[in-house]
Amino acid sequence: MNALSRIREFHPEITTWRHDIHAHPETGFAEVRTADLVARQLASFGIEVHRGIGRTGVVGVLRNGPHADAPGRRIGLRADMDALPILEANTFAHRSQHEGRMHACGHDGHTAMLLGAAKYLAQTRGFDGTVNFIFQPAEEGLGGALAMLEDGLFERFACDAIFGMHNRPRLPLGKFAVRSGPMMAGGAFFDIDITGLGCHGARPETGIDPVMVAVQIASALQTIVSRNVRPVDTAVLSITQIHAGDAYNVIPQTARLSGTARAFSTPVMELVGSNMQRIAAGVAQAMGAQASVDFRVNFAPVINDPEQAEFAASVCNELVGSDNVVRDPSLIMASEDFSFMLEKVPGCYLNIGNGDGEGACEVHNPAYDFNDAALPLGSAFFARAVERKLAA
Ligand code: NI
Repeated sequence: MNALSRIREFHPEITTWRHDIHAHPETGFAEVRTADLVARQLASFGIEVHRGIGRTGVVGVLRNGPHADAPGRRIGLRADMDALPILEANTFAHRSQHEGRMHACGHDGHTAMLLGAAKYLAQTRGFDGTVNFIFQPAEEGLGGALAMLEDGLFERFACDAIFGMHNRPRLPLGKFAVRSGPMMAGGAFFDIDITGLGCHGARPETGIDPVMVAVQIASALQTIVSRNVRPVDTAVLSITQIHAGDAYNVIPQTARLSGTARAFSTPVMELVGSNMQRIAAGVAQAMGAQASVDFRVNFAPVINDPEQAEFAASVCNELVGSDNVVRDPSLIMASEDFSFMLEKVPGCYLNIGNGDGEGACEVHNPAYDFNDAALPLGSAFFARAVERKLAA
């Protein structure tokens, strides 16, 4: 019996885990109950469990065969566990029981799929090497991947290749999408604090107006993408907040511009940041004010290793046929912190179809739900990636 057929036999059990996690969503670094569930299941499969990696993160280790610890025979499989601060609009039985929190990005499904693969691999042991099951906390902008890395994830649990997966609404059920090279944008947040000289609104000549400085800087920053970034590269710079002043007749002392930048390579992101520093400081100085820039890169771009992407695509081809594997899907402007793991270990992040019917609702929407029909396929991807990469 092949892996997918065998995993389908415990599809109801995987679904039960998924519904349990969905009903009890926990946001970043608060995944205590979820981590308990994961650890309990892994232990019940006979898998060695490590808790507290990146605070609420869990790592399961399954060694098998004579070359269990040999370099080149250690694989990492990663799922994220956190929910979002969203009030769920769904009314089905497994809807959130935690008011104001919701699995609106399908991380409940990702966790359940990886547990399904762990159960299958622990039972069948058709590989020679080590599998590290990485259950990451706090993917939604709170730094869960970096927290695991800072806790020595890859020093303690060496991996030669890593794989992760995210569901994609509107990609039909039964399909995968695999992209080689850049896949998702890196993201930065920035704050620009401008200091002028506050004065009476009727006597601007006695002060330095930070509002005028802010709008000049905001305008000049738009030349970074149009004039400094190469036309063949991609970047976005959006100013999403302008704050200044409290009264009709007061020119304020300070103003703040905030926003986000996105790019598909670290050099382009660095270029955006350094040009922002220069433009903000230069424009402010020209107008007699001062500006300081805090540019924080929260997400590296997701860049898939070409060799591992080819391998992942071949596993998908085996499972669903090449007609159902979308190669070279369009770049995604959203970000994902698996990127920081991919900076350390070559690997591939791929998408699994959440369906264009029931699962078409976009992620981060209060009516979203992971499509249970995708669960065995996701588990089978992880399982076959191990069996093929670590073939005995
Ligand atoms: Ni997500």
